[in-house]
Amino acid sequence: MKPTDSSGRVKAGAEAVLTATGLGVGFFPEAGRRLEVVAGVDLRLCAGRTTALVGESGCGKSVTAAALGGLLPRGMAQDEGEIRWADGAARGPGRGLAYVFQDPGECLDPVFTVGNQIRETLPREDRGRARERLEELLLTVGFTEPARVAESYPHQLSGGMQQRAMLAMALASRPRVLVADEPTTALDVTVQAKILHLLADLQRRENLAVLLITHNLGVVAELADDLHVMYAGRIVESGPVDLLRAPRHPYVRGLLNALPRLDGAGEKLEGIPGAVPPLGRRPAGCRFHPRCPLAREICREREPELRAGADGRAVACWARTEGGWA
Ligand SMILES: Nc1ncnc2c1ncn2[C@@H]1O[C@H](COP(=O)(O)OP(=O)(O)OP(=O)(O)O)[C@@H](O)[C@H]1O
Ligand SMILES: [Mg+2]
Repeated sequence: MKPTDSSGRVKAGAEAVLTATGLGVGFFPEAGRRLEVVAGVDLRLCAGRTTALVGESGCGKSVTAAALGGLLPRGMAQDEGEIRWADGAARGPGRGLAYVFQDPGECLDPVFTVGNQIRETLPREDRGRARERLEELLLTVGFTEPARVAESYPHQLSGGMQQRAMLAMALASRPRVLVADEPTTALDVTVQAKILHLLADLQRRENLAVLLITHNLGVVAELADDLHVMYAGRIVESGPVDLLRAPRHPYVRGLLNALPRLDGAGEKLEGIPGAVPPLGRRPAGCRFHPRCPLAREICREREPELRAGADGRAVACWARTEGGWA
């Protein structure tokens, strides 16, 4: 069987807008030295669907998202794999792809009004009717007084309002793919829920392909259609979001076990022992083996490929694929 991406799992008719195949990113701390950041990542982002990317801090989620838009940090390069847009045209940030981040400060400039910043982002075809389009965008993200918000500076808005303004700015470019990287982590819980529902609503109305990056598996279960779990730069399990009901990879099981149960029932909270290895210190074999309760000899020696089962779910684990022992 060959490694698989999410193609088998996508509903018939879902249009892949952006596809990454075998995506790899290296970090070059000095000439001639490459540290692997992300490797072998397959993603298929479809119109009207939300694909979640989860994993502990440092697994490579933001770097993967940055690579899709050609926005990698200094010293990093996408030097493996391919990124393809459906219509074959090269698209970058500001056209096909837009980002919203955890910290509106990464998008909003404190010295310009919200209105001015959104106007700057409008594509040429909307510039002739900038005022109407600005109002439309601000209404779309749930502001009831668009004129007042347009004249505000970012610091005059609450955290939730800044997040809405950032969404309006992202939508201004009429993107087909929206990358939301921890979009609500900095907000309090009730505001989080509102912003996430807004995101889901916008996705439906604008038929966006959404890549949702989050630590919150509850959010994933509620909003995502497809799920990819990353560990130390690779996807270790992927499939429709209900794989969370019975994950196969020991890492994904560990992530779920680390969640507190709302009803307080069940086993006590068990985190995953150890930590994500830093760049340059990733172990040979399966990257998860030093932390894995199922690890055996082969796991220390050879890296498992992401393999699809008959149900279209894919897992990269020696114990869980054909001939496995657990
Ligand atoms: N600008 C940078 N220079 C060097 N290394 C970096 C840089 N940005 C990220 N890294 C490293 O690349 C790896 C992947 O980082 P990334 O930011 O993608 O993780 P993440 O999964 O988004 O984590 P988090 O959940 O904390 O946002 C980590 O080891 C990180 O330390
Ligand atoms: Mg990140």
